[in-house]
Amino acid sequence: MTDACAAVILAAGAGTRMRSETPKVLHQVGGKSMLAWSADLARALGADPIVVVVGAQGPGVAEAAQGLGLATAVQDPPLGTGHAVAAAGAALTCFEGRLIVLYADTPAVRPDTARRALAALEDAAVAVLGFETDAPGAYGRLIRDPEGGLARIVEAKDAGPEELAVTLCNSGVMAARAPLVWSLLDAVGNDNAKGEYYLTDIVGLARARGDAAAAVVGEEAEFLGANDRAGLAAAEAAFQSRARADAMAAGVSLIAPETVMFAHDTRVAADATIEPYVVFGPGVTVEAGAVIRAFTHVEGAVVRAGAVVGPYARVRPGSDIGPDARIGNFVELKNASLAAGVKAGHLSYLGDVRIGARANIGAGSITCNYDGTAKHRTVIGEDAFIGSDTALVAPVSVGAGAYTGSGSVITRDVPDGALSVARGRQRDIRGWTERRREPGGES
Ligand code: UD1
Ligand code: MG
Repeated sequence: MTDACAAVILAAGAGTRMRSETPKVLHQVGGKSMLAWSADLARALGADPIVVVVGAQGPGVAEAAQGLGLATAVQDPPLGTGHAVAAAGAALTCFEGRLIVLYADTPAVRPDTARRALAALEDAAVAVLGFETDAPGAYGRLIRDPEGGLARIVEAKDAGPEELAVTLCNSGVMAARAPLVWSLLDAVGNDNAKGEYYLTDIVGLARARGDAAAAVVGEEAEFLGANDRAGLAAAEAAFQSRARADAMAAGVSLIAPETVMFAHDTRVAADATIEPYVVFGPGVTVEAGAVIRAFTHVEGAVVRAGAVVGPYARVRPGSDIGPDARIGNFVELKNASLAAGVKAGHLSYLGDVRIGARANIGAGSITCNYDGTAKHRTVIGEDAFIGSDTALVAPVSVGAGAYTGSGSVITRDVPDGALSVARGRQRDIRGWTERRREPGGES
C-alpha cells in the first residue's frame, strides 16, 4: 500500500447563498481567495496531485485553479458533494494512496489538524474532521456509535429532532484510501431532502460493509464554512483573531488587537508596535522596533527597523521605508523607496520615487509622477531638503544635499548642493488695503 496523498478540492457548487457575481470560492479571507487557502492547505499536506473540481458555468474558478498550478476536473451539472468527488475520479484513476477531500469554502483549516485526519486512517477506513458548536445550524451532524466511532453523517435538512440536537458537526474534511472512496461513491444515491449525491453518505456505507470510521475533533473556528456573506465575515473574523494571537505570541505589541486587520501573509517582527486601527493589505513586512501608528493602511511594503509610520499614513505597493524613517500624517507613498532616516512628516504624495538617506520632505510636497499617459520617476539625493509645498514634476532629480524653496514647482534637475527656487517673487504693494476700501478704489 502506498502512503502517497492526493487532494480533491470541491469548488463546483453554485454558491447561490453568497448572492454574488463572483464565484463563492474566489471570495477572500485575509486578502486571499478561499480556493487559494484550500490549495495551500493541500500543499502543506504534501498532497500530489491536487485536483480542483470546478463547475461548467461561472467564470474564473478553473482559471484561478490553473493559475495556482493545480489540476482541474469539471462537474457539470453540480449534483452534490459526492458527485463532485466522483468527477475527480478520472484524474486519479491510477492513484491508490490516501485521498483527502477539502471543501473550498472552508478556508481556516490548519495543516496540523488535517494531518490528524490522515493519521486516523491508521485505525479507520474513513476519517472525518468535526467540531463542537453552540450553533450547529445547517451543518451536517456527526452521529457517533456507542463505542465512540463515527456511525454516519446526517445533513441538517434530512435530520430528525434528535439528530438536530447533536452539536458535533461535519467540517467537510474527509480522508480515506482512494479506491475505497470510488467504490463507496458508486453506492451513494440522491434520495434525500436536497436530491443531491452527498459525499457524507460514504461514512454510513463504509460502516454497513464493516469498515471503521472515525470522527477527529478540531476547533470550531477552523471549520467555519463560508456559504453566505455573514459566513464569510465570520471566517474573516476567525482568521483575524488567529492572526492577532499569532502576532502577539511572536512578540508583536498590539495595543488594541481587535482593531488591527492582518492579511494572510503579513509578517511583523518581534518588538514592532502596531497601534489601533491599522489595516494591512497583502505583502507587508514590518521589521523589529518599527511602529505603525493609528489609522494607517499599508500594503505591498517593507517597513524597516525603527521606522515610524503614521498616524493616518497610506503606504501603497512597492514601497520600502528605510530604517528609522519617519512617515507622518496624511502622507501617501506608492512605489517609494526611502533610505535610512528619511522624514516626510505631513501631507505629501510620494510616488515612483527614490529618496536618499536623511532627506527631509517638507509639508505638502508632492511628486507629480503622472502626465496623463505615463508614470515618471523622481530621485532625491541624500541629505536633500525639499521645502514645504514643493511640486516635483517627474522625471526629475534633486541632488544630494540640495534644497528646494517652499512652494517651488521643480521641472529641471537640481544640482548637488544647490538651492532651487521656482516660484513667483513676492511683491509688497504698500497701502493697497486702504486704497481698496475707498469708494471707487482698486479691486
Ligand atoms: C457541506 C456538508 C455538510 C458540512 C458542511 C461544512 C455535504 C452534503 N454537506 O454542506 O455536512 O457540515 O459542508 O461546511 O457534503 N460543491 C461542489 N459540487 C456540488 C456541491 C458542492 O463542488 O455539487 C462544493 C462547493 O463549491 C463547496 C463544497 O463543495 O466548496 C461544499 O458545498 P456546500 O454546498 O457549501 O455544502 P454545505 O451545504 O455547506
Ligand atoms: Mg458550505
